[in-house]
Amino acid sequence: MIIKSNFIFTKDKDEFTIEENKYITVEDGKIKEIKDDCDKEYIDYSDKFMIPSFVNLHTHAPQFLNRGLGYDYELLPWLNKYTFVTESKYKDIEFARKYHEKFVDDLIRNGSLNSVIFGTIHRKSDNILIDLLKKRKVFSYVGKVNMTMNSPEYLVESKKESIDETIKFVEENKDERVKPIITPRFAISVDSDTLKKLSDIAIENNLPIQSHLDENLDEVKTVSELFEDDNYASVYYNRNLLGKTKTIMAHCIYMNDKEIKLMQNPNVFIAHCPRSNMNLKSGIAPIKKYLDLGINVGLGTDVSGGNNESMLEEIRASIQVSKLYSIYVDKNTKPIKSSEAFYMATKGGGKFFGKVGSFEKGYDFNALLIDDKNIVFDRNIDLLDRINAFIYSADDRNIVKRFVLGEEIY
Ligand code: GUN
Ligand code: FE
Repeated sequence: MIIKSNFIFTKDKDEFTIEENKYITVEDGKIKEIKDDCDKEYIDYSDKFMIPSFVNLHTHAPQFLNRGLGYDYELLPWLNKYTFVTESKYKDIEFARKYHEKFVDDLIRNGSLNSVIFGTIHRKSDNILIDLLKKRKVFSYVGKVNMTMNSPEYLVESKKESIDETIKFVEENKDERVKPIITPRFAISVDSDTLKKLSDIAIENNLPIQSHLDENLDEVKTVSELFEDDNYASVYYNRNLLGKTKTIMAHCIYMNDKEIKLMQNPNVFIAHCPRSNMNLKSGIAPIKKYLDLGINVGLGTDVSGGNNESMLEEIRASIQVSKLYSIYVDKNTKPIKSSEAFYMATKGGGKFFGKVGSFEKGYDFNALLIDDKNIVFDRNIDLLDRINAFIYSADDRNIVKRFVLGEEIY
């Protein structure tokens, strides 16, 4: 397949790569080359532009119903008053089918064609989520959540149940596109033995791991009361849950230097969720510092800490909060540039999946076709201005086609 269009991506985080009026050749779902001209048949999208589809590194499918609810509370009371109550309803698999379908629809409509997703503790409902994602052909990881302590009696597992169900979940899911990920909810809700056993499962099956880390000050304090380890990150590290296999830690706002060292590992990814961090008054993560240290950072919508599945809004928020950080928190830190935010939402998070999130040779052709006619009226402005206008002003209606491995999906 050959497509003529304008291709905008971030090979490097510090600038956009712009290929104007070029021809991209896609073979077996991967990018073969971008050329200046073409003597074969091609599809013409030259009045629009194409970008790599978004990589959503952190969101919760069973919190879809809670978008926008309870934001007068901080994390721990919010979990208890809103989140756990809603997640417990996913024990009913028909309930799960109905609302997971709406979640998947929304995820894809917003252009996330590679996603890493929390389910609930309910294996059968998590499997329904996996089936729905497979049907829509999008790449994803889904975690059956583990919760063995400090949880309400309607949303908790015994240690044995938590491990047995995780093993079954892993055995049941061997698909190439939608894969399992080991998912201890966070240190507060999983006991030390279970954390260790979960890392054994991850290592034996070469599976990635996801959790939450250093999100909220009360959370950090509670973890320090529950565990004797040096710091929050060490609770995971000391139990082989940080970087032995590929690992995503969401938030990472309150990290000390020792913890930051543990994150400087090519297997470890931070999922930056700036809207969730604002909504729950969690704080501002020093993302520019993490990027400059070479730590892998992607973006996550973190619904329902995040108020919807829009990666575009997440990109925007990541720039805006970093501007405030550079004025009010640390005048020596530069704000994130739009190219860096776009990079986190595409190639930065895409690294978790492999060659994903860019239009370089050998990368998966997972892409969005963008029509910006309702934003940019002056058709003479250049593509750099157009991508910035898109980042700041667009929404899902500007995404007019979605491609996974070169195939249009709906
Ligand atoms: N920490 C543990 N569970 C959660 C959750 O569901 N959302 C957020 N934002 N943080 C968490
Ligand atoms: Fe989360």
